[in-house]
Amino acid sequence: MNSKDTTGAIGVFDSGYGGLTVLEGLRKALPQYDYIYLGDNARAPYGVRSFEIVYRFTLEAVQYLFDMGCPLVILGCNTASAKALRTIQQNDIPVMADPTRRVLGVIRPTVERLGELSHTGHIGVFGTPGTILSRSYDMEVAKLYPDFTVTGHACPMWVPLVENREADSPGADYFVRQEIERLFEKDPLIDTVILGCTHYPLLLPKIRKYLPEGVTAVRQGEITGSSLNDYLHRHPEMEQRLSRGASCRYLTTESARRFSEMASVFLDMPVEAEHILLG
Ligand code: DGL
Repeated sequence: MNSKDTTGAIGVFDSGYGGLTVLEGLRKALPQYDYIYLGDNARAPYGVRSFEIVYRFTLEAVQYLFDMGCPLVILGCNTASAKALRTIQQNDIPVMADPTRRVLGVIRPTVERLGELSHTGHIGVFGTPGTILSRSYDMEVAKLYPDFTVTGHACPMWVPLVENREADSPGADYFVRQEIERLFEKDPLIDTVILGCTHYPLLLPKIRKYLPEGVTAVRQGEITGSSLNDYLHRHPEMEQRLSRGASCRYLTTESARRFSEMASVFLDMPVEAEHILLG
């Protein structure tokens, strides 16, 4: 493992490719820093896995990125943010050799924005079964906006649609429309819908097509970028530890060639991935 040449990079972790949508938002907002993206493609998807497994896999990835010299890791994955972030922050980091390193997720920054977006206070959340069952969005919203109502809805078909390059196909219309209808049957007053999964921004044209008029779809890439910007202003001690080479490395636990091919679905530029082993 090369640790010295990457010291100071921001680590971005996801179960697979989807976190590239978050990485893109981070690099747009903060292009000056170095990044290391790690996709645990060999063990994805995480969305249907148990708490214990998602926690263990995520901790291994965070530890790997810390060992590479990242002082800060962003969990781009909603499922990992929902099921592993709190335990890693509260139980694992304090007993590590360097307890000053940090892990942040995507749920809190997304929820923070709801106050300025929603007028009815009725929020919908689309996510993987794991994210929705964890009720992490409900709990985070209750802390910041106790009067808001949150209705979660799992969309198990949406990730496979994107990964099988079917996001633009007529077949995708069926599944997108069906889940949107089911969510609005549960609460017709929803005016803001969180796309609480890394893959869903790729379905945005179809999601917009079937969302009732006036409903806002919240994407996380841009939000995570501006939230990290704020965080680094509030934490100059962390900002000073970050290296500024504007580079990005891509690591995957699956075949590097396959990662490079699939990354083109999520990013507009070609990437060259490196294979690593976790666990
Ligand atoms: N990255 C995951 C998320 O945002 C979606 C893919 C998976 O299930 O692993 O929840």
